[in-house]
Amino acid sequence: MTACIRYWGVVPAAGVGKRMGGVIPKQYLAVAGKPVLQHTLERLLAVERFAAIAVALGAEDGYWPDLPCANEARIVTAPGGKERADSVLAALVRLEELAHLEDWVLVHDAARMCVTPSDVESLMDRLADHPVGGILALPSTDTLKGVEYGVIVDTVNRNHIWRALTPQMFRYGTLRFALEDAARRGLTVTDEASALELQGQRPAIVEGRPDNIKITRPEDLPLAAFYLEQQCFA
Ligand code: CTP
Ligand code: MG
Repeated sequence: MTACIRYWGVVPAAGVGKRMGGVIPKQYLAVAGKPVLQHTLERLLAVERFAAIAVALGAEDGYWPDLPCANEARIVTAPGGKERADSVLAALVRLEELAHLEDWVLVHDAARMCVTPSDVESLMDRLADHPVGGILALPSTDTLKGVEYGVIVDTVNRNHIWRALTPQMFRYGTLRFALEDAARRGLTVTDEASALELQGQRPAIVEGRPDNIKITRPEDLPLAAFYLEQQCFA
């Protein structure tokens, strides 16, 4: 049974990058000579277990056709939506004719270009027999404060706090139902795990690498270039 289970990638890449600013969406800014999205997709394509990867693109996206990865046989595209969750859902719909309900889907932010193929594979390996699925995450290293009106009201017990990264890996059928149900109920979900949590599920945590950063603000670009160099994949 497990032998028939396949792995699909979903890459939401339809954001406008408001916090980054500028005219070019952040997924098309160059780092070490290549657009962010090209780096991200190369890293995912290095994982042979992916049967295909569905990339959700913005309606106004004129940059995609020039991306070398656009012609890859294992890449398909879907029209992105208003929120990240809408884009993920659109990519799942694109995979409808290809994926089985029990197949695994790994959702990975276009903006996390420093993800290593080995981290992706370790998520696949660790959760292959898991009943729910789960996500890469990092234990919080900072002391976290609850703040109201500019003053500290409490200190959060850091032992229970992890930062959610991507990829996030769930079964095609379960994930699609969870995202559609959240949309129906008008509930905002900022990652896939929270959609599963709303269904009463308990996604697993697999510790990821600290260099799997999400490019969000301008200062993240040189940081990503530095990490690439350190990883010797650039
Ligand atoms: N994303 C998407 N569709 C949206 C919004 C976001 O596919 N409607 C994607 C982004 O392209 C990004 C990932 O989801 O790869 C994570 O989102 P985020 O880092 O917040 O990117 P943006 O929404 O583009 O940035 P900002 O929030 O600063 O506008
Ligand atoms: Mg956003």
